[in-house]
Amino acid sequence: MAEQSDALVFFGMTGDLAYKKIFPALYQMAKRGELAVPVIGVASSEWDRDGLRDRARASITEFGGGVDDEEAFAHLAASLQYVRGSYTDLSLYGELRARLGDARRPAHYLAVPPSLFGSVVEGLGTTGCARNARLIIEKPFGRDLESARELNEIVHSVFPEDDVYRIDHYLGKEAIQNITYFRFANSFLEPIWNRNYVRLVQITMAESFGVEGRGKFYEEVGALRDVVQNHLLQVVALLAMEPPIGYGADALRDEKETLFRAIRTLEPADIVRGQYRGYRDEPGVAPDSDVETYAAVRCHIDSWRWADVPFYIRAGKDLPETCTEVRVELHRPPQHVFADHERFPHDNNYLRFRLSPDVVIAIGAMAKEPGDGFTGRPVELHLANDAPNERSAYDRLLSDALHGEHLLFAREDGVESAWRVVDRVLTDHGPAFPYDPGTWGPPEANDLVDDVHGWHAPGSGVGEHGHHRHVHD
Ligand code: BG6
Repeated sequence: MAEQSDALVFFGMTGDLAYKKIFPALYQMAKRGELAVPVIGVASSEWDRDGLRDRARASITEFGGGVDDEEAFAHLAASLQYVRGSYTDLSLYGELRARLGDARRPAHYLAVPPSLFGSVVEGLGTTGCARNARLIIEKPFGRDLESARELNEIVHSVFPEDDVYRIDHYLGKEAIQNITYFRFANSFLEPIWNRNYVRLVQITMAESFGVEGRGKFYEEVGALRDVVQNHLLQVVALLAMEPPIGYGADALRDEKETLFRAIRTLEPADIVRGQYRGYRDEPGVAPDSDVETYAAVRCHIDSWRWADVPFYIRAGKDLPETCTEVRVELHRPPQHVFADHERFPHDNNYLRFRLSPDVVIAIGAMAKEPGDGFTGRPVELHLANDAPNERSAYDRLLSDALHGEHLLFAREDGVESAWRVVDRVLTDHGPAFPYDPGTWGPPEANDLVDDVHGWHAPGSGVGEHGHHRHVHD
């Protein structure tokens, strides 16, 4: 068993991520009795320990369901310490070194802008804070292939890859882990999981809200960098990779890397970008901004298994609902045996993985309508897998990193390969087409999908609303 870390140092403790995700995760760990380390917050703000505790309580109240276990909160509060200073000033790391006391295997968590990574890693290295330490890195991990390589070099100048944990919080989600489990714990899927049966794959990540005050951050990023390069390409990898040789961090990450390598580099014709109307009025956003709040891309995987099967991905802010869903469409049967085929042209055989907010795996099929004739209706075989008490992704990932478990973290080669896929279209692309808030993105995105059905709105393909619901019909 890997040695358990005995201190968690958190760079960026006063930031947005800490407030929305990390304090609630630490509180969950405290409630389970698993927060056994001091948590040393580092930031440049004028704060003290009391300020940090107040912020922790406010964060848990707003984003963690409220403080319902005062004893656990008291434990968390007692674990919190604060070191204040400038990330570029070596004396900060000297003070941190003193605070670490006799910690033997500290974990440093960097949730700071990438422009500061170099200073922090170097500061940790030169002052001895990095000795025998782990490094947990929050995204974005670079802003293109070149900067990701530079960051990796900086990181490796002090930390060996074995001690590095790159967070993609999607990998910490149950539903995402279940893609891997469902694929490789069943035998019925494998025979159809290839180009002979699969016609196309669509992945939609929709959010019904805008950038919510993060305009300044978002201007530097855009949808492609924010969620496609990382979260959604990770989902593609898990859906499409070959079976790993056993259950181990490197076995899995080796297969993901092989898959990433097979994804063709995107060309300008493979992407349609959009921007919701009103984005330019957000604080921190340029009045003539061309940053995309919506991106639709068409990927091809040049492998024996997936040749010619398009993988369509779209992600956007201010869409009609908040959900993430994968739809794997199978080819239609080779012949029309029944007269009703015109009513249900050819997309009734599919697998649907709903990843959030609820978790569903469904198989779309046709079944005979009771009655005399041979007419049918689309049905879904439904495996609901709701996990109301699911641990948050950050709770899971932080605990894993503190225990030295790499399985759910992105590896250097995978991150760079994913950047390679999007690298050209980060700058070489058409304009961001405007779309109205509450719609499924710019109409231009329909042209990307080379299929009569266009994009599928997430949700059941069948049901009370009639038959198939399509996005723009
Ligand atoms: C983050 C992005 O990585 O993921 C956000 O920066 C996005 O823009 C978020 O809203 C979505 O994550 P989740 O877990 O809320 O689906």
